[in-house]
Amino acid sequence: MRLLPHEVLGFSVRNMKILVSGSTGTVGTHLLNSIPSDSYEVWRLVRSRVEGENLIFWDPDGGHVDDLSLLEGFDAVVHLSGENIVCRWTEKKKNSIRRSRVHSTRYLVNLFSGLQNPPKTFICASAIGYYGDRAEERLAEHSAAGSGFLPDVCREWENEANRASDLGVRVINLRTGVVLSPEGGILSSLLPLFKRGLGGVIGSGGQYLSWISIEDLSRVIIYLLEHGEVNGPVNAVSPNPVTNRQFTAALASVLRRPAWFSIPAFAVRLFFGEMGRSTMLAGSMVFPEKLLSSGYEFLHEDLDCALESVILR
Ligand SMILES: NC(=O)c1ccc[n+]([C@@H]2O[C@H](COP(=O)([O-])OP(=O)(O)OC[C@H]3O[C@@H](n4cnc5c(N)ncnc54)[C@H](OP(=O)(O)O)[C@@H]3O)[C@@H](O)[C@H]2O)c1
Repeated sequence: MRLLPHEVLGFSVRNMKILVSGSTGTVGTHLLNSIPSDSYEVWRLVRSRVEGENLIFWDPDGGHVDDLSLLEGFDAVVHLSGENIVCRWTEKKKNSIRRSRVHSTRYLVNLFSGLQNPPKTFICASAIGYYGDRAEERLAEHSAAGSGFLPDVCREWENEANRASDLGVRVINLRTGVVLSPEGGILSSLLPLFKRGLGGVIGSGGQYLSWISIEDLSRVIIYLLEHGEVNGPVNAVSPNPVTNRQFTAALASVLRRPAWFSIPAFAVRLFFGEMGRSTMLAGSMVFPEKLLSSGYEFLHEDLDCALESVILR
């Protein structure tokens, strides 16, 4: 689906040359389809040697880029790389999750320091995992980081991105919430179960889930490209976080299916280990204070509307 900038974005866009990493992922794919192609010249940083235009091959793990000069003069770089975290976290997997974020960002910023014209803006993915498990605490960008594997990774990831500010680059750490997309992430895993009437509450159901629709996330990224006055950490979440119980009820209602089952906490711990404890049973109530104060208007503030738009479109 290609969005029309003036009708759907709701703000005007300038001509820009941007580079996107992790462009084959859920967020990257949607972003590239949403970008106003008449105004933006989009290049992709790719890890596989595929044919096509505007591609720059890199191997962040091995520390290689084919042609450094191609990185000169971008208006912005949007760095979305990161190995998927939804799996059992063995030590090897945790190492890959950390490396694919912290090391790839360090390598990219090192590349910027070798350029005559580094990008003006660097939008680097981060996650609300930064805040950790925080029960009913109201969290905004100024809130302290939590403790545990995900908060540690997010802190290190953001620290690496922030090094680019020494080069005069505007840096944004995009602390993204649970992205609602039928193509990837939590919703795509839950949909088959809920469609069969097998959905239900996880653990106590009281843990908060801070979410954003995929449409809003792409719009937020484009908005941040266009609004040079915003920098630093930005919470990419809707203004209405919900509990797992409320999320379960909303998803079942949109699909017109029952959700009578429940997954007890001990089963989550048994089957999913640390990943289950740190994501499925943990919660954080995160608010998009910077986006709202800078004037961003959400397409989907309400969970029912977001789910209807994402699932039934
Ligand atoms: N989806 C969410 O709910 C969510 C929530 C919070 C934060 N985020 C963050 O937002 C970013 C984009 O999310 P997403 O949902 O689009 O993720 P995704 O679908 O898992 O895609 C991430 C992309 O990163 C690249 N990648 C995968 N493994 C890698 C590795 N070992 N080393 C380097 N690059 C690797 C791949 O792109 P290439 O093959 O093209 O390089 C992949 O398509 C990620 O950093 C993620 O942590 C996502």
